[in-house]
Amino acid sequence: MKDLTPARSSLDPIEIASRDEITTLQLDRLKWSLRHAYDNVPFYRQKFDAAGVHPDDLHSLSDLGKFPFTVKADLRDNYPFGMFAVPQNQVKRIHASSGTTGQPTVVGYTANDLKNWGNVVARSLRAAGMQAGDMLHNAYGYGLFTGGLGIHLGADALGLSTIPISGGMTQRQVRLIEDFKPKGITVTPSYALSILDEFNAQGLDPRECSLAVGIFGAEPWTNAMRLEIEQAFDMHAVDIYGLSEIMGPGVSMECVESKDGLHIWEDHFYPEIINPETGEVVADGEQGELVFTSLTKEAFPIIRYRTRDLTRLLAGTARSMRRMEKVTGRSDDMIILRGVNVFPTQIEELLMQVRALAPHFQIELTRPDRMDQMRILTEVADDSIGDASRADAASQLSAAIKDVIGISAKVVVGGIGAVPRSEGKAVRILDQRPKA
Ligand code: DLL
Repeated sequence: MKDLTPARSSLDPIEIASRDEITTLQLDRLKWSLRHAYDNVPFYRQKFDAAGVHPDDLHSLSDLGKFPFTVKADLRDNYPFGMFAVPQNQVKRIHASSGTTGQPTVVGYTANDLKNWGNVVARSLRAAGMQAGDMLHNAYGYGLFTGGLGIHLGADALGLSTIPISGGMTQRQVRLIEDFKPKGITVTPSYALSILDEFNAQGLDPRECSLAVGIFGAEPWTNAMRLEIEQAFDMHAVDIYGLSEIMGPGVSMECVESKDGLHIWEDHFYPEIINPETGEVVADGEQGELVFTSLTKEAFPIIRYRTRDLTRLLAGTARSMRRMEKVTGRSDDMIILRGVNVFPTQIEELLMQVRALAPHFQIELTRPDRMDQMRILTEVADDSIGDASRADAASQLSAAIKDVIGISAKVVVGGIGAVPRSEGKAVRILDQRPKA
């Protein structure tokens, strides 16, 4: 793999500023953001008043802990534009997440917000090793989802030549990578695997293709998956994180030279980690739920938003800004099976160790006779593998799950294509248990 480390001189000065400079800027911006939300969004005014706090009560960054949280239900209750802080004619872009239940979550951006978003995504793409003039194959979905258009905005800001292919039509994805020879690809890790399968199906060697870096996010993925993808394509694989409520992709990004977690662009997004049960802020280094406050957003300021993503904060390395560890999963994706907590990423890690299996999987939960059961549908890496080897692979995986996680799961090994593919975010859990 090529060394893609960006020149230090190409970074934004704030990326490598001193911690003092960063926290001073954060405090100024945080005061502005709280005031802006309080003055312009009735929801925040009522929430702050009810909690007995006022933007003037913030004297230090840690005072933020006195302010109330915002949760997804608040956004739904204020559907569609109740959380916007500027008049509609200043909103230049609207995105929405489809959500698995009912109301979509709607977010908006002013012209300034779009500029800032473009800049943090440009920073992220640069951290991945992309430079002005490089070609990017952008396979995140375009549309209301923030992935496609968010990456596009940053690619424009960095000066890339962008292929806005969006998700889907996998044969064409491979064709264009072969013909156009992009240096980078932006795509969900699960869809990257489908593209990989298509390379193999067409008899093409993915290691020979032009790609030097893959920028993967929008869903959890493991370091084991990173190794698999890096080897398969002979390219770097780096992690990009974000969520619509905070901005979209580009809230945090892993650096290609260190691959040690994701630097949060702390000049725009202020992170906290809380104990999800008590709501208490925990110290850096401790695991918990990630909470974000926007520092510069005009159209849709967001104060102490509970992301439900589980991770921990770590000191900066390749940049001065703090890192978040690779997300383990969302608290809503945590499966509690007969009292044991399980995340799909744990299954992914174990699956990747069984050589005969492909990295595709789906977890099905049922409750026959009032007992929760987990079935893992996976598939062979190679269709010529016989029944005995399939059975052997299934028992290897269920033994590993029993040993490491401590639960019994039935593993079903199908032929190639048995696990439904996604063109965006993978659906990892099919919960067929009766609703309580
Ligand atoms: O998924 C934004 C995005 C697009 C990020 C493209 C990266 C690349 P939403 O659709 O609002 O926005 O979903 C946000 O996806 O709260 C996490 O649970 C999950 N997620 C996003 N990035 C990662 C990641 C986009 N790198 C939700 N690792 C978030 C793990 C991620 N989970």
